[in-house]
Amino acid sequence: MAARWLVLLCLLSQSLVFAAHSFENTAIVRTVELGGSLVHVTTTYAVKSLEAGSQKYVIALGEKEGKSTSYLEAKLKGQNDALVVEGHALDPKDGAYHYTVGLPKPLAVNATVNLVLDTVQTHVTYPWPEQASQKEEQSLKYESDLFVLSPYKTATQRIKIRAPSPRIISHTTPEIPDNFATDSIATKSGATVTYGPFTNIPASANADFIGQHQKHVVVHYLYEYPVVEVTTLERTAEISHWGANLNIENSLNLHNAGPKLKGQFSRLDHQSQMFYNRLAPHVLPALTLHLPPGVHSTYFYDLNGNVSTSRFRPAPSVPKASQSNQYSLLELRPRYPLMGGWNYSFTFGWDSPLADSAAYDKNTGKYIVGVPVQTHVAGSIVDEAKIKIIFPEGATDIEIFPPFAPLSQELSTHITYLDTTGRPAVTFKYENLTDKHVGTIYVTYKVPLLAHLQKPKAVAIALLSLFTFAFASRRVDYRLTKS
Ligand SMILES: *[C@@H]1O[C@H](CO)[C@@H](O)[C@H](O)[C@H]1NC(C)=O
Ligand SMILES: *[C@@H]1O[C@H](CO)[C@@H](O)[C@H](O)[C@H]1NC(C)=O
Ligand SMILES: *[C@@H]1O[C@H](CO)[C@@H](O)[C@H](O)[C@H]1NC(C)=O
Ligand SMILES: *[C@@H]1O[C@H](CO)[C@@H](O)[C@H](O)[C@H]1NC(C)=O
Repeated sequence: MAARWLVLLCLLSQSLVFAAHSFENTAIVRTVELGGSLVHVTTTYAVKSLEAGSQKYVIALGEKEGKSTSYLEAKLKGQNDALVVEGHALDPKDGAYHYTVGLPKPLAVNATVNLVLDTVQTHVTYPWPEQASQKEEQSLKYESDLFVLSPYKTATQRIKIRAPSPRIISHTTPEIPDNFATDSIATKSGATVTYGPFTNIPASANADFIGQHQKHVVVHYLYEYPVVEVTTLERTAEISHWGANLNIENSLNLHNAGPKLKGQFSRLDHQSQMFYNRLAPHVLPALTLHLPPGVHSTYFYDLNGNVSTSRFRPAPSVPKASQSNQYSLLELRPRYPLMGGWNYSFTFGWDSPLADSAAYDKNTGKYIVGVPVQTHVAGSIVDEAKIKIIFPEGATDIEIFPPFAPLSQELSTHITYLDTTGRPAVTFKYENLTDKHVGTIYVTYKVPLLAHLQKPKAVAIALLSLFTFAFASRRVDYRLTKS
């Protein structure tokens, strides 16, 4: 009996966790920057504490919104340090995701603070119309829930949806009950549609409010850039002390998520559009990538072999290359322009001096090497990423410090020619990487002096057996026919 009460109590306190401290939102302003496969959203909460010692503020996202949010960061307005955010599983009763944000210090009654939430939504737009000919323009639709949810009362809120070019083709205007909307529901001005202000919104992160009042809005806008998605990325970084080299190789599946090509692809139309510099935005002729400074020996091949149409502008080598704001420029021009709905699989890579990305810590006797998580393709999401780091042979005491938590990480052994014992490797898996996920994975390890000699030893043994073989073969007659 007692046990049952305990369970009930635990369940109760679970759901009460969200309401730990009471607040009120004096204002919420959300700005949605429309894009292609990435949509950046900034929400500012002007918060007032209603009880002494309030330090845990709860942010809510609707079910659909929470599922499509691939990046989330909360800060105090004007500050650089991100606040600690704890995510909670979707509460089916509430129909909302909750995130507890730890404020830097407890608030007194009536104290106020401005919280800024930055999120990136992925796969929230789609081409409309779904098909376009080679000469037609490209427009997309963005669909979203209207109200910003919160477990607290909100005095006023406003939602601005901004397109990158000043052409919003259409937007919907939902019906809002009089008690929430004082005057305008939707106003369009240039590239921005503003919904609200809406006033006196009760606590809304619950099934009741969502079921009764949440609205759906659609904005249809012109988009003048390709909508690019990397469906899979496999990056392999190989650390070699023997060659003082860091090799990074990337295999990508690229997808053009713009409108599907209507009719046949015409190379003649394409050439003339290229000539007049009037390529439709849903035609992707090339990718321009920023590589670290100091890289050399770049290569680019696809299923048909080497592609020679890449251009490379190197930047000179600098230490701590991953943190430098200089970059080498690599332009990859696939064999054919990538039309809407088309895919392209290819591999590219480079070498760089290990010294640019490595340091040695005398105190611990360990090497530390930084490997960037990805080379971001402008505006693109990476649906699935697998990043493998291969250590020098004999490396021990391996520790790994990814910049954000991977879905999984596993240690394996990578065997290459002339390795006697194999090289340790670690593989990280990620999903839904955005332009905000461009951090560096740091790895530290020891290489015992003996291990440094492993490779020369392997080379020596290989040579020795070759000599022995040559020596032995001289005595054996391999000829099938005797002269
Ligand atoms: C908080 O503000 C309310 C309304 O402005 C006021 O009535 C109340 O006395 C204030 N409380 C404190 C502790 O300052
Ligand atoms: C591709 O080019 C590299 C050097 O640029 C060369 O070593 C390699 O053999 C080429 N591969 C093919 C399949 O042509
Ligand atoms: C492109 O790739 C996507 C996902 O990987 C796949 O669903 C689609 O069928 C491919 N399209 C073509 C034209 O091969
Ligand atoms: C990544 O996004 C896809 C599609 O939006 C979703 O199904 C998947 O659960 C997401 N993965 C993670 C780890 O959030």
